[in-house]
Amino acid sequence: MRVDGAQMRADFDELASIGATPAGGVDRPSLSDAHLAARAWFRGRAAAAGLETRADAAGNESAVLAGAGRRTLLLGSHLDSVPSGGRFDGALGVVAALHALLAVQHAGVELSVALEAIDFTDEEGTLVGLLGSEALAGTLDPESLQAPRGGRAALLAGLERAGLREDELTRARRDPESLAGYLELHIEQGPLLERSGTQIGVVTAIVGARSHSLVFRGAAGHAGTTPMDARKDAGLAAAAFALAAEELVVRDFPGCVATVGDLRLEPGAYNVIPGTATVALEFRSPEGGVLDALEDALLGRAQSEAAARGLELEIAPVGRWEPTPLDPGVCDAVEAAAEALGLSSMRLTSGAGHDAQALASVTRSGMIFVPSVGGLSHDPGELTVWDDCVNGANVLLWAALALAS
Ligand code: HGY
Ligand code: MN
Ligand code: MN
Repeated sequence: MRVDGAQMRADFDELASIGATPAGGVDRPSLSDAHLAARAWFRGRAAAAGLETRADAAGNESAVLAGAGRRTLLLGSHLDSVPSGGRFDGALGVVAALHALLAVQHAGVELSVALEAIDFTDEEGTLVGLLGSEALAGTLDPESLQAPRGGRAALLAGLERAGLREDELTRARRDPESLAGYLELHIEQGPLLERSGTQIGVVTAIVGARSHSLVFRGAAGHAGTTPMDARKDAGLAAAAFALAAEELVVRDFPGCVATVGDLRLEPGAYNVIPGTATVALEFRSPEGGVLDALEDALLGRAQSEAAARGLELEIAPVGRWEPTPLDPGVCDAVEAAAEALGLSSMRLTSGAGHDAQALASVTRSGMIFVPSVGGLSHDPGELTVWDDCVNGANVLLWAALALAS
C-alpha cells in the first residue's frame, strides 16, 4: 500500500495557492481569512473523497475514516503558518495525513481503529501556541488566553472570525482512552538529514520553549535637542539586551537558542528618542532544568541593561512549552516502516515545537521528519523535494498501519 504521490502533489500545490505570497511561501496566521480558506479547502477535499469531516470546539478540523474499534489514531499537523512562512511547514503533514486515509480507503481495508487526519488550530503561536492540540489534550490553561503572545485582541478577533467561543475551547478535550496514538509527518526545518544524506528522521524528543514580552520604559524626547548624556533611550537598552542575550547563550548555554523575534520602538519616528521598546524574547532547550537557568540568566541580564540606563522594565511570560520525549514504541514503528520501505533513517531531537508536544501528554505520540533543503524554514524559500515528501507520507501510512494492528 502506498499514497498516491501525484494526487498528493496536486492537492499540496492547490493548498499552497491559498494565502500564497509572491516570494513563493504562504502567509496564513491562525484564524486569518487565508487560514480559514485553507481549512475550507481541507474540509471540501475530504468530503469530496467521501470521508466524514468534523470540527471541534477549538476549531480543530478533521477528516475521519471509520474503523472497527472505538479508538482513533490521529494523524495530524497544522495549516496555519508564521507570517510570510513556507508552504511545507504543517501543510505537508496535513495533506500526507489525508492521503494516508485515502490510501487505506482505496485499499478497502477496515482497520481496528478509526484514522483521523487532523489540522490543529494555532500551532504556530501567532495567537497562543499549540492552542488546538492543547485543547484536545485537555491541557489548555484558560489563564494563558488572558495574555497570549499574539495579544488578546488578536486572539478574540481570530475566535470571532472562526465562530469559536473562548469559554468553549476546552470542550475539545478528548478522552485519552478514545485515542490509539498520534503520528505527525513534518519537515525537519533544520540541516541534519540533508547533511547526513538521510531520508527519514525518527524524532525522539522535542525541545522546550518559553516566550516573554519585555517592555523597556525610558523617556521619549527631542532627538535634536536632548544631549546624549541626558537620555533614557529605551531602544538602546533593548538593542544592548539583544546583543547581550546572544553573547550569553553562545558562551554559557551550548545547545540552547535565544531569539529576539520582534522589537517595537515607540513612538517610532526619526526625530523622537524612543521612550518605550517592546521585545519579543523566545528561548529553547532540550532540558527543563537548563531552561530555568537560561530564563534566570536572560531576564537577569535584561534587568541589568535597564538599570544601567535608569529605565524601568516590565517582564510578562507569554508562552511555555515543556521539553517532550516521544514514545519509544512509536519511534520503533516509524523506524521499522522506513526500513520496510527501503529508506534510510536516523534518530534526532526536534529544535522546533510541534503539536506532538501536546498530544504526548495523553497518548503515545511520534513524529517523522523529511529533509529541509538547506535546513531553511519559516521562510518563503522553505523546500522539501517531492520524492522526500512522498517517502515521508508512505512512512506515515506504514507506521499508522503498524500502530493500528
Ligand atoms: O516555532 C516552532 O518551533 C514551530 O515552528 N511552531
Ligand atoms: Mn510546524
Ligand atoms: Mn513552524
